Amino acid sequence: MKITLKPPAKINLGLWVHGKRNDGFHELTTVFQEIPLYDELEISPHDSKKFVCEAFPGQDNLCLKAWQRLENYCGHSLNASVTLKKKIPAAAGLGGASADASYLLLGLNQLHQLNLSNAELKCIASEFGSDTAFFIEGGCQAAKGRGENLSPLSCSYENYLILAVPHMKCSTPAVFKALTPPYSEQKNQIKVLETALKTGKLSNISDQIHNDLMPAAQSITEELESCMKQLEQQFNTSFFLSGSGSSCFALSETAPASPLTFDGRYLGVLDLKNNNTVWEICQ
Ligand code: C5P
Repeated sequence: MKITLKPPAKINLGLWVHGKRNDGFHELTTVFQEIPLYDELEISPHDSKKFVCEAFPGQDNLCLKAWQRLENYCGHSLNASVTLKKKIPAAAGLGGASADASYLLLGLNQLHQLNLSNAELKCIASEFGSDTAFFIEGGCQAAKGRGENLSPLSCSYENYLILAVPHMKCSTPAVFKALTPPYSEQKNQIKVLETALKTGKLSNISDQIHNDLMPAAQSITEELESCMKQLEQQFNTSFFLSGSGSSCFALSETAPASPLTFDGRYLGVLDLKNNNTVWEICQ
């Protein structure tokens, strides 16, 4: 039995940082939105543990950490052959590595008929990342704490997402380190964003998109700011940073045409209503 899964990318529609905690992480409020840009994970029975990822051949893949945590939780080895094909750009604030690792938990749960609940899988996932638990159920969810304290949000989209990933990569720890007080107060950020999301109206949603990490990411990432300005000129709309960057996105009522050239890692228009790709340039 071969299991093929499609771990999706995410964007952060809102991200407010409330302060630094004693454990070194930051307390935050965010809204994760799954988007139709996918990696591919193939999991099949095998007599040992085999993991192949051509794009990142090293042994420090988050999937291997997830696999080990799941074995520790179950108390026995979980052999399988796993092949990961990467499409989601790395170090871009799109959660690709987290999605792969969380989907590996889902796949191994299925392959070995472990019958673990989503609550258990989320708990294991949150041991190896702050946005990992989100991917167990995906969709649109509000998150608090480090990002693992989740609650589902209902939303409807009538619009398109323009997603751009410039050449430069952003290190999440470095961006959080560059963040300086004052921090955002804990207010009713989720309620306001949720109300806008429920209307499905582009102007309402765009008005509420916010990312406290943007100044820090721009301060340590050369050309990120100018790259975002260029995108704003090209598409005549505001762009927002996803997570700690460097990916940025805009919402649009219509699907803009594809440019002939693009200087970056990824540019695409995704149809959020029908959950598919209108066009994309991957390089
Ligand atoms: O948990 P994750 O591996 O995504 O976090 C990467 C790094 O980002 C952490 O080591 C920490 O430096 C920073 N971070 C943070 N507060 C969060 C999430 C991440 O400071 N809520």
